[in-house]
Amino acid sequence: MDGIRISVLGMGYVGLAGGMGYAKHGFKTIVTATTPSKVENLNKGIPPFYEPELEGLVRTEVNRGMLSATLNNLEAIRQSNVTFICVGTPSLPDGSADLGAVEAVAKDIGIAIRDKDGYHVVATKSTVVPGTTENLVLPIVEKYSGKKAGKDFGLVMNPEFLRQGQAVHDSLYPDRIVIGEHDAKAGEVIHKIYRDYKNDKEEPVPILHVEIKAAELIKYAANSLLATKITFANEFSRICEEFNIDVYEVMKGVGLDFRINPMFLNAGCGFGGSCFPKDVNAIVALAKKIGVETPLMDAVLYTNDIQPMHFIDIIKETVGNLKGKTVAFLGLSFKPDTDDTRATRALPIIEKLYEEGAMVKAYDPKAYYKFKPLTDLPIGYMDTIEEALKDADFAVVQSDWQEIREIEPETLKRLLKKPIVIDGRRSYDPERLKKAGVVYKGVGWKNRE
Ligand SMILES: NC(=O)c1ccc[n+]([C@@H]2O[C@H](COP(=O)([O-])OP(=O)(O)OC[C@H]3O[C@@H](n4cnc5c(N)ncnc54)[C@H](O)[C@@H]3O)[C@@H](O)[C@H]2O)c1
Repeated sequence: MDGIRISVLGMGYVGLAGGMGYAKHGFKTIVTATTPSKVENLNKGIPPFYEPELEGLVRTEVNRGMLSATLNNLEAIRQSNVTFICVGTPSLPDGSADLGAVEAVAKDIGIAIRDKDGYHVVATKSTVVPGTTENLVLPIVEKYSGKKAGKDFGLVMNPEFLRQGQAVHDSLYPDRIVIGEHDAKAGEVIHKIYRDYKNDKEEPVPILHVEIKAAELIKYAANSLLATKITFANEFSRICEEFNIDVYEVMKGVGLDFRINPMFLNAGCGFGGSCFPKDVNAIVALAKKIGVETPLMDAVLYTNDIQPMHFIDIIKETVGNLKGKTVAFLGLSFKPDTDDTRATRALPIIEKLYEEGAMVKAYDPKAYYKFKPLTDLPIGYMDTIEEALKDADFAVVQSDWQEIREIEPETLKRLLKKPIVIDGRRSYDPERLKKAGVVYKGVGWKNRE
């Protein structure tokens, strides 16, 4: 299609979900990784992580020869004429983004296109602070290629907005596409890739062309606003608890205002994951560096940090002293439908439970292999929900996977020593549990009634 062939550097959530989408839309796509087993498996149609529906779609594209993987960035770049940079940009200790992987692949791009004929478009998809694409990627690619941006190669910043747990849906049916372009020709090439994409109402997706720094900042602004909405609901959950008001009822009433919308107003034990904490920290660190105050974002980070301890307070108010108690801990990933445990709220909550003398029997359908390396605490990792619940003093919900939401009240009564559920994600209908004789407490619920 239009002669576009794509290489995607980085086979994480963004690189693989995006790469699968390009392949599905008819663009031959090669994704790269640094681990041989990931490449071998991908070429057999097996993704390196869990995302709903990803495996089947990846297998289809691999089988029809549209998607493949290699360890060799240079080879992938040389076989393509558009390269998306999708490597990680994790937090450094001061909160700023670690751009080491972006630098490394920019160098690979420069080396690879040095002796390559034809125009090549370089697109940053990783989340990077304003200025990174033009002041870091551009000079590195120019240095190692001996070529000129805007003439021999094009430069674009195309931020990604997918949600983990819904990465496939969001990659295939985005709300909008943002193309930050250094030169219009490069922007047009990226536009062609997305021109047939539809949103989930089957409408054409709005494609916004902006300057490159604006595209970089749009990503941070969007994530900061979403993190703020969650934090707002969390803060109100505490006020609600004092008055025995249901925060979900309050936020429903708030979210029905079309100017606000109901999304991301679900109170819980704080936001985690690989994006919100990292991106808000990065923008705060950047603002500090350039002398701009960010009291709102500072407060979002502070409120989010104390929310897990507020959840511990709810647990202690419900069951009293935690010494010697066994807790059935449900959900370790930072949210359901993903195996990702980066910045999961499960970690500070479990650490505090142990500090208070409790023991944890945990259950998660997918996340053990990513959670276990995070802590040496003697957590029991159970194969089934039933094993986690059996003879525990009470149950705590941190991440509400469907099978956790579907636990029957009778199961809780049969297996727990006392039928008590303390819900960090408001996964259950409190009245139904109450009627069945289960004690229900939760974030932003009428716990003192
Ligand atoms: N995960 C999300 O929900 C999400 C959403 C939007 C944007 N983003 C942003 O996209 C970027 C990638 O995020 P992710 O979640 O996919 O990260 P990830 O950690 O899942 O994947 C990044 C991948 O890049 C690979 N990599 C590192 N150096 C490499 C190199 N030199 N060559 C080839 N591969 C290399 C890593 O091995 C890793 O597999 C980040 O900047 C992130 O902030 C993430």
